[in-house]
Amino acid sequence: MFSPTGLSGPKPEQYGQLLAQARALVEGERDRVANAANLSALVYHALPQLNWVGFYFFDGTELVVGPFQGLPACVRIPLSRGVCGAAARTRTTQRVADVNAFAGHIACDSASRSELVVPLYDDDELIGVFDLDSPIPDRFDADDQAGLEAVAACFVDACAAATPA
Ligand code: SME
Repeated sequence: MFSPTGLSGPKPEQYGQLLAQARALVEGERDRVANAANLSALVYHALPQLNWVGFYFFDGTELVVGPFQGLPACVRIPLSRGVCGAAARTRTTQRVADVNAFAGHIACDSASRSELVVPLYDDDELIGVFDLDSPIPDRFDADDQAGLEAVAACFVDACAAATPA
């Protein structure tokens, strides 16, 4: 059974605690759906002011929605579109303070005002993106970005981990 423990202290410390919880959740598990589902649930319930947290997986052509928490979302996103496509295409985290000012933003939940999308790469292979939406403008700062990039790296590492001999 997972017992949620509240995050405390300055933001970087909170993200240290969240990363430890994330690592414990994916420990010994390589299945990407299982890990994405549990990490979405962990982050959605641990952090305030979020309305969507989840994963899109690259199917070789476009991004396809994976496990998430929040309202039902757009199923397929071409790499040429949206904040998610921009993150995947540029291999760079997209931290968008105002989604309405982002050309090509795809509104899945009309409540969303700001967004953070972390690209997921295993070396040169695009796996997908980790996407977080907030109903609060400018919800994500540099600490959030660093902390959530660490959670995303934890996901990639767990799914890519060598099978124990
Ligand atoms: N806003 C994203 C689409 C995915 S939803 O936020 C869940 C985008 O512009 O790519």
